[in-house]
Amino acid sequence: MHINKPPPGNRPLKTLERVLSKAGIGSRTEARTWIGGGRVQVNGRVVRDPDVWVDLELDRIEFDGKPLRSEQRVYVLLHKPAGYLTTYRDPQSRPTIYDLLPDRERHLVHVGRLDFDTSGLLILTNDTQFAERMTNPEYHIPKTYLVEASRPITDDELDVLRSGIELRDGPTRPARVERVGESGGNGVFEITITEGRNRQVRRMVEALDAKVLKLVRVAIGPIRIGDLPVGKMRELTGDEVVVLGGGG
Ligand code: URA
Repeated sequence: MHINKPPPGNRPLKTLERVLSKAGIGSRTEARTWIGGGRVQVNGRVVRDPDVWVDLELDRIEFDGKPLRSEQRVYVLLHKPAGYLTTYRDPQSRPTIYDLLPDRERHLVHVGRLDFDTSGLLILTNDTQFAERMTNPEYHIPKTYLVEASRPITDDELDVLRSGIELRDGPTRPARVERVGESGGNGVFEITITEGRNRQVRRMVEALDAKVLKLVRVAIGPIRIGDLPVGKMRELTGDEVVVLGGGG
């Protein structure tokens, strides 16, 4: 538990007030009243400050002496359109992915990011452990992108992308690369990478002195985009969650 401000890092922290309201037992105003009234305990001690930061994995929270029911886990797959930011709120008021979500899904966290100009699959969840694991570089979850480059890309250049290309933050790991469409090359290919560095695919293509005209994330692990319309979401199936290491 932390008073005043959250400590740095990626812990799944929320204010006590928010934890109570998100548990679905009442509004934020009601939660503040209950906390102020001494009905909430953190790690066995009554806490009357609704703004303390609690760690959902480490802190034990009780309401009227009963452990808070944990939220049902939710995993959704969004087909992000280009022209949306992967962030909760933008100081410049540009569209964000949360503008696409119904109110009941707005508390979900996005698992990783897609650039403003990139479209495709993005997972959102309230399972913070899953989100951390999926974005942990050590897990090497493969992500597949459909790339339209500004010029034809030769077979040799595709081999360079496959074996690893030098970027300013080091060489890329081996990638799976497949040309899409007619032989002869029209600059369209699919690339599967197991890292999530900032603007990685764009930088790999730029390292070949080409530009990315269009970038779509078409798969996360074995889950493909299928016919999910742009801007729409669907729940992941139980099997899909398990395949990605969630649920449990
Ligand atoms: N690589 C990029 O360059 N951009 C993305 O949005 C995702 C991967």
